[in-house]
Amino acid sequence: MIDTKASLSTFAKDIDKGLSASPKCLSSKYFYDEAGDKLFQTIMGLGEYYLTRAEFEIFDTHKASMLRSFLGADESFNLIELGAGDGTKTKVLLRHFVASGIDFNYSPIDISQHVLDLLNSDLEKELPKLKVNPLQGDYFDALSKLNQNHCQKEVVLFLGSNIGNFSNTATEQFLSKLSENLSKGDLLLIGFDLMKDPNVILNAYNDQLGVTKAFNINLLNRINNELGADFDLEAFTHFPTYNPVTGETRSHLVSTKDQEVTIQALEKTYYFKAWEAIHTEVSQKYSLKMIEDFAKNAGFRIVRNFTDRENYFVDSLWEKC
Ligand code: AVJ
Repeated sequence: MIDTKASLSTFAKDIDKGLSASPKCLSSKYFYDEAGDKLFQTIMGLGEYYLTRAEFEIFDTHKASMLRSFLGADESFNLIELGAGDGTKTKVLLRHFVASGIDFNYSPIDISQHVLDLLNSDLEKELPKLKVNPLQGDYFDALSKLNQNHCQKEVVLFLGSNIGNFSNTATEQFLSKLSENLSKGDLLLIGFDLMKDPNVILNAYNDQLGVTKAFNINLLNRINNELGADFDLEAFTHFPTYNPVTGETRSHLVSTKDQEVTIQALEKTYYFKAWEAIHTEVSQKYSLKMIEDFAKNAGFRIVRNFTDRENYFVDSLWEKC
């Protein structure tokens, strides 16, 4: 289970790079081991975590017009979901599409094989008629799997403000790449968490029960388990920040004392000063103007913005020009 120095995984190399950097950082894409998947599912059900609820409401309210927009003049399409997760929200759409007798394929793509297996067996039970083609990989692997010369219309879902984990520069690059992999007339439905009362945002990343804290600290636990490290999980605290000027929400793990941590797989010891922080996540919040600019710069036209009643969240439907 534990890596040896001779064959370091990308995970091990990335952890070494992040903990050797100044300031220290770790990538949020590594949150999602089995325990992390579970913690994120708990987060999605928390009162403070409005994102999932808002997007659920958007789907429930607009599923029929979404289907009409996806079809346009066509009879079918390929539905591809980047970062599918447990598919709870997507199932609102899938159920409606299947009930409407539409002929379509569903390809969920996720970094977590575990989550894909769960989703697949869940869909087999709930929507046995649906053609499901799951793919494991990160978003960039996924892009290369979208074939450019497809004859069917592709509808790509990128929901839940998963895009928020990218810096704005990375978002621009990602959207341009995605655009290059699509054909004229293909569609992208992309979820953005909107700027709102800063207290509402901060509470979503600092819940009363401490689930988000546990989610963050689980990353250290994962390094302990998979790389043979000795992080003292009690000696780090969770601290999120929100910048209402830029919309950047960040999560940090802060060392509460001077300490050293040894990672066996890397044969290396890392030093932490008291109150030194590790930056673990960006959860960017957006204005509608930022969204318009992203669409335009990547060669898309905004077809329609679907929002919830509180205007907390938007699922923006884009067409490739
Ligand atoms: C899965 C990236 C949308 O940033 O809101 C939840 C992950 N992090 N609580 C987010 C997360 C802390 C989530 N995304």
